[in-house]
Amino acid sequence: MASDFRTILVTSALPYANGALHLGHMLEQVQTDIWVRFQRSRGNHCLYLCADDAHGTAIMLSAEKAGITPEQQIARVKAEHLEDSTGFLIKFDNYHSTHSPENQYWSEHIFGQLQEAGHIGVREITQAYDASKGLFLADRFIKGSCPKCKSPDQYGDNCEACGATYTPADLIDPVSALSGTTPVDKASDHIFFELDHFGELLKTWTNSGSLQPAIRNKLQEWIDAGLQAWDISRDAPYFGFEIPGFPNKYFYVWLDAPIGYIASCQNYCEREGEDFNQYWLPGGDTELYHFIGKDIVNFHGLFWPAMLHSAGLRMPNAIYAHGFLTVDGTKMSKSRGTFIMAKTYLEHLDPEYLRYYFAAKLSSGVDDIDLNLTDFVQRVNSDLIGKVVNIASRCAGFLRKKFDNTLSATCSEPELVQHFIAAGEPLAALYEAREFNRAMRDIIALADRANQYIDDKKPWAMAKEEGREQEVHEVCSVGINLFRALMTYLKPVLPAMAARSENFLQVSLDWHALEGPLLQHELQPFEPLLQRVDPAAVEAMVEASKA
Ligand code: MSP
Ligand code: ZN
Repeated sequence: MASDFRTILVTSALPYANGALHLGHMLEQVQTDIWVRFQRSRGNHCLYLCADDAHGTAIMLSAEKAGITPEQQIARVKAEHLEDSTGFLIKFDNYHSTHSPENQYWSEHIFGQLQEAGHIGVREITQAYDASKGLFLADRFIKGSCPKCKSPDQYGDNCEACGATYTPADLIDPVSALSGTTPVDKASDHIFFELDHFGELLKTWTNSGSLQPAIRNKLQEWIDAGLQAWDISRDAPYFGFEIPGFPNKYFYVWLDAPIGYIASCQNYCEREGEDFNQYWLPGGDTELYHFIGKDIVNFHGLFWPAMLHSAGLRMPNAIYAHGFLTVDGTKMSKSRGTFIMAKTYLEHLDPEYLRYYFAAKLSSGVDDIDLNLTDFVQRVNSDLIGKVVNIASRCAGFLRKKFDNTLSATCSEPELVQHFIAAGEPLAALYEAREFNRAMRDIIALADRANQYIDDKKPWAMAKEEGREQEVHEVCSVGINLFRALMTYLKPVLPAMAARSENFLQVSLDWHALEGPLLQHELQPFEPLLQRVDPAAVEAMVEASKA
């Protein structure tokens, strides 16, 4: 591989192993997958790694409720997650688990490094404790009446009725959500990561210029407010890794979760015979990017770079945060049928519709993304069927019936074809910058231009006139060449439709393969590339989501 190709490691956040994936998770995986597929189409070596985040109290409790072991639960959920991601054409190079030997090794190793460097402290803290269950209670496991509006049954630290925020100690008549008993205060030793040792490092990282402005501002705010030591231990019983040298203390799930990126990479490199060190030792020229939702920026923007640095590992080039998915303008809701699981979507609709719709909405920013179901149907049908597929289907019939399914030997519109090929570089810059919405807009503008060309030439009228055979052949061949450029640019978003197009065109649709027009080139019979979205299928999906 030539040296101007990049080696890039990319991750999506590791989904929790206690529930199925919904369309919000898919927004993140689709965004990441499009970026990764784009990098590969440019010739770069780009690894896409993920895993399930398997530890924590919630997973322990949900396994208990289901009457299975946590190991059984995480195996079951991992299989379901992979099936859903695969259904959305997400192409991981590896999908691992944080409950793995590699992750245990790296968690212990990194903790040991932090400890050796003097960044670990032990302090006693007092917490709510459910004596009947023998469990310390995180805020979300305590409920009671709101101290402000007195609404009953409010969880942890905020009131769903009036929006007040408070500490669980302020709740009126607090009870454990697990047993209904009144929690008691109980003290125990906790292990802390002294984040305030990393003020200078984190200031430099925050202002390195590689972070999104909104993220930089948020990190700056936290740094200015003063970095607090981070509690990285939980008392038994807990599903996770026991901390070496601290019996009955476990690593908090968020300590070993990002280390799961390293574990997944090691597992991949051992299987594929790749050099693991190039990805994680500092000073190399590989790149590392984490795609995450805006809710987990503190973990990836503060704790994670500090941990990596002090363990002698490389820091990320950037973290790429996205906003949250809303459906029809509001938070996904079970009662409205807009809390849509990935599996439910796939039972009713083609994954490429949503991949395209997300691409048409995603930018490099952290604004929330709305899936408007009416707009979704209209947009996909108008752009993909009405514009892109239309170019090929209008030209393919003439070529097959009259010209042996072979493109003309000369190109009658070299400038037009060249204009489409030259669009590749600016479009690549938009993909690189994660400005997918602008890339889609420019691609569809080119599709309009191609359809305009065919409308102007009217091959269907020419075909009825004597002696214009050659012209018909050339117009349709130009149309197919324009379609080829467009599908090259859409391939990261629409890999299955691109594969069907590759079969029809008999070329591979990669950026670097797009040099000049295809001439005297034989095609395969044209098969439908994509069906229209059926609005009834969208309704059926919403109905099924109400259950
Ligand atoms: N397990 C942690 C991540 C650990 S990464 C070392 C976690 N899991 S999660 O299942 O809750 O979320 C996984 C990813 O999906 C996160 O990046 C989260 O922001 C994203 N999303 C979850 N719900 C979402 C939406 N409604 N919209 C967009 N992204 C959402 O957090
Ligand atoms: Zn209230």
